[in-house]
Amino acid sequence: GGGSEQTLLVLGATGDLTGRLLLPGLSGLLAAGAGPGLFLLGSGLEDWDEDRWRRRVSESFAATSDGGRVAATVRQTTYLQADVTRADDLRRLLDACRGDVVIFFALPPAVTAKACRALGSLGLPEGTRLVVEKPFGVDRASAVQLNQDLAGLVAEEQIHRVDHFLGKSTVLNILGLRFANRILEPVLNADHVASVDIVFDESLALEDRAGYYDQAGALVDMVQSHLLQVLALLAMEAPPTVGARELRDRKAQVLRATHLWGNDPAASSRRARYVAGEIGGRRLPAYADEAGVDAGRGTETLAEMVVMVDTWRWAGVPFRLRSGKAMTSTRKEAVITFKQPPRVPDGLSGWEQPDRLRIGFGPDRLGIDLNINGPGDPFVLDPVTLDADFGPGALPPYGEVLKGALDGDPTLSVRGDTAEECWRIVEPVLAAWRADVVPLGEYAAGSSGPQDSLLPGI
Ligand code: BG6
Repeated sequence: GGGSEQTLLVLGATGDLTGRLLLPGLSGLLAAGAGPGLFLLGSGLEDWDEDRWRRRVSESFAATSDGGRVAATVRQTTYLQADVTRADDLRRLLDACRGDVVIFFALPPAVTAKACRALGSLGLPEGTRLVVEKPFGVDRASAVQLNQDLAGLVAEEQIHRVDHFLGKSTVLNILGLRFANRILEPVLNADHVASVDIVFDESLALEDRAGYYDQAGALVDMVQSHLLQVLALLAMEAPPTVGARELRDRKAQVLRATHLWGNDPAASSRRARYVAGEIGGRRLPAYADEAGVDAGRGTETLAEMVVMVDTWRWAGVPFRLRSGKAMTSTRKEAVITFKQPPRVPDGLSGWEQPDRLRIGFGPDRLGIDLNINGPGDPFVLDPVTLDADFGPGALPPYGEVLKGALDGDPTLSVRGDTAEECWRIVEPVLAAWRADVVPLGEYAAGSSGPQDSLLPGI
């Protein structure tokens, strides 16, 4: 960045990812004054002309009110038809770039792999950065392969694996909350904590994404990626700086120590998919009946997994991860539940609810549940929640993670070893599900999930 010219080259510019995430994230970023001198270059297989591409960009940017930089980017942007699996087409694209090059692979994994190989034969301009979106592979082996393909092109620090959860303001705030407050960190360990829940229940259902989602399922779409990143921030040791190297080292360390609870998928994981139901007056068909879904695949729309963070700090504390679609409750939070005090004076009652620290990631909030002497009898305690609302972050989450790629700061990027580690953690669960060791349960769309959940409602 730094004011000099830079090109964001989007491979797969006519596709869904570009429209749904990349362009909206970019517009937020530009409106906030980032990305000066950015030249946006779109490319795709489709025979689009410049006008058609500009229309797409300006429609995506329309939600952003700022005039100047957003409008300038739209005016300048251009589109080149190209087959990115062919070296000569890629050469043409690179020749059209100005200044530093950032290549965004908005492509299916198999095409990304081919594009990497074709790029490898060209040699990239000095300082080129690469951006990829999840899923980073479809299992551990393919994640390793993807990492090798990317590493053949540029150094790890120039590879940006985007996880928009790491750009959420409350997720980013875990660092400040844990390490800049004296009263929290000393009690965040197995001596004081009973359990940690990381939950992301959505009312959203399939939303026309069968092509991607039916292959992925809830475990891969949410738990293996976003929720394990949150776990890493909650459980890691304090880094001496929040720079890319130290922060990402600490995350990698704690994930290496993390494994399925009891190494027992039957006891420590659950999967289910929704059947027809109703959410807020909207009738939803069963997942299995949605267009594009192969019902026989048995893709889950809700996944739960309990893991052990096997370190001195956390050994013995269950970390329970869960995400579901088409749910009535939209709990989106990490909750740290503390143990009961060692001794409560006789004569005090009403203190049975444990203390909890709640970090909400949509809506963004922070809460602490305590037992205090409320109204009425002073010896009968009442549970209260001290609540703080967050203003929105300076940038939308996707803008935040894109900014890292444009500025060349990989702090919020998922490092290659960490991406592989996250697959390693879920692999026993995926294998057990494939082998039907854990039955595929059902829940009605618009309900609060299956009966045999591993997470008590709190
Ligand atoms: C995406 C998942 O990464 O995150 C979606 O693919 C999910 O299935 C989404 O709905 C949640 O995003 P947000 O913006 O609500 O955090």
